[in-house]
Amino acid sequence: MKHLLSAKDLDHDAIVMVLDTAEAMAATQKHSIKKLPTLRGKTVVNLFFEDSTRTRLSFEAAAKRLSADVINFSAKGSSLSKGESLKDTAQTIMAMGADAVVVRHSASGAAHLLAHAGWINVPVLNAGDGTHQHPTQALLDAMTLRRWYAPGGPAGGAGRAADGSPAPRGRDLDGARVIIVGDVLHSRVARSNVDMLTHLGASVTLVAPPTLLPVGMEDWPCEVSYDFDGAIASVEPDAVMMLRVQRERMSAAGGGFFPSPAEYSRAYGLDALRRAAMPEHAIVMHPGPMNRGLEITAEAADDPRSRIIEQVGNGVSVRMAALYLLLADEGNQL
Ligand code: NCD
Repeated sequence: MKHLLSAKDLDHDAIVMVLDTAEAMAATQKHSIKKLPTLRGKTVVNLFFEDSTRTRLSFEAAAKRLSADVINFSAKGSSLSKGESLKDTAQTIMAMGADAVVVRHSASGAAHLLAHAGWINVPVLNAGDGTHQHPTQALLDAMTLRRWYAPGGPAGGAGRAADGSPAPRGRDLDGARVIIVGDVLHSRVARSNVDMLTHLGASVTLVAPPTLLPVGMEDWPCEVSYDFDGAIASVEPDAVMMLRVQRERMSAAGGGFFPSPAEYSRAYGLDALRRAAMPEHAIVMHPGPMNRGLEITAEAADDPRSRIIEQVGNGVSVRMAALYLLLADEGNQL
């Protein structure tokens, strides 16, 4: 049984296969009839123990565009202990005849548990587990970056090769430089993107205050900085990805991660001045939902180089690709 649990599990060729499939899916979405018969007769269960707008809607849209039936199960607020509630729910899902389960849970490792505990025998797609992994988000970010930097893309291969020379850019992200800024501590998006983007040849710099960086990052394949302005100047990024300040996880931990919102914005927020300091071709990304006025100003979010809306659209394409590769009759291709 194959699953999509972590960006770490996907090597370069597997990522490129998903992204190429996502591009093929995106091409079908330009037609007036968007529905493909590929997963007719299959049932996808969306199991969301944590809030979600984009991820849940786009998994639902993706499954429906492939003609699967979708059952949405929002289990937020369950008071059962995590292991028990997951097991009970898993058995309910199997009784309903699910062919795949999309799961989001506040506990890191929940998707892995669901996939490997022996309760169910269908593919599990991780839609975010605690602060751990969110592989389809990293895939949609990689798709967004690759579109932008591929030769023939809107930026015409504006990125650079690793030695700094203008790149005859391949289909992946060789030489692209990405800065990821903000609440890295609580971010499954940052973790997944460090794995995914480096597998594609990009270099990643994480920028955050020391209080919002996890311990034990020595073996992460990226640079780390506390200085956003310094990183913009020295990295000359092709893309800056802003992270949401995850206040719900901070208050659960008792708060105190930064002195005040204003101070956070001053040091780590993306505003028009910092946007202007970035290379002209650099794009702005954010996984959403945004705290406008905290980690990003409205002006920066709505900048012509902002790819935030495009990211959401690409999310449907990569989720169609993932469902297709795991579930179609030719399936289990991941
Ligand atoms: C992210 C998530 O849930 O991990 N959002 C998303 O999937 N679009 C990031 C976040 O909540 O900050």
